[in-house]
Amino acid sequence: MSITNHNAYSPDVQQACHATPILEVRNVTGGYGHAQILNGVSFKVEPGQIVSVVGPNGAGKSTLMKAIFGLVRVTSGQVVLEGRTITNVPPETLVRRGMGYVPQVKNIFPSLSVSENLEMGAYIRKDNYQPRREEIFRLFPDLRESRRKPAGLLSGGQRNMLAMARALMLNPNCRDGSARDARCLGAYPGHSRFRRSGTHR
Ligand SMILES: Nc1ncnc2c1ncn2[C@@H]1O[C@H](COP(=O)(O)OP(=O)(O)OP(=O)(O)O)[C@@H](O)[C@H]1O
Ligand SMILES: [Mg+2]
Repeated sequence: MSITNHNAYSPDVQQACHATPILEVRNVTGGYGHAQILNGVSFKVEPGQIVSVVGPNGAGKSTLMKAIFGLVRVTSGQVVLEGRTITNVPPETLVRRGMGYVPQVKNIFPSLSVSENLEMGAYIRKDNYQPRREEIFRLFPDLRESRRKPAGLLSGGQRNMLAMARALMLNPNCRDGSARDARCLGAYPGHSRFRRSGTHR
């Protein structure tokens, strides 16, 4: 499994960003029961970076994402979100801290409409989520066209769009995510600087 950092923004924008990494994975091990899959994984995501995790089938990419998101137990090492340790913090807490997770499979509610799926993504929002849904429809025009359709009738690619869009309903502001697994999966920690300035979108 190899991990590559790409700078999504120009060097001056990069420099203006906060020095604390958005996400840091330090020497993480973990897996399923006695099967240890992650053997000391380390990487950092600086503000404005896109990080790719690449590897063959079964290498442990999804397991790594799940370990970051508290779905797989980390047995040693640390996961740090914007300077705060979040090792083994449960997903429901991480979502409230601005992290989104898009599973690789079974990532939509097939019997609900596209709009209802997006509504589910906004479940913990206390404010009016409609403007955010409009933004999402601008990003993914296919979803606007299909908004009344049951999500189970979408194509594979459109399902992945919907899964990504659902996670984005919480407005994680580092848009392209800190880590993406396969085409559409990943963790999206929020970063208030990006949201406030609006210039890095
Ligand atoms: N729930 C589970 N229980 C036990 N072993 C599992 C479980 N999920 C995955 N594994 C095993 O963990 C290893 C890594 O799987 P993982 O899903 O992380 O691979 P991946 O890199 O995401 O592969 P792909 O590219 O096919 O998505 C595999 O050997 C897999 O069989
Ligand atoms: Mg996978």
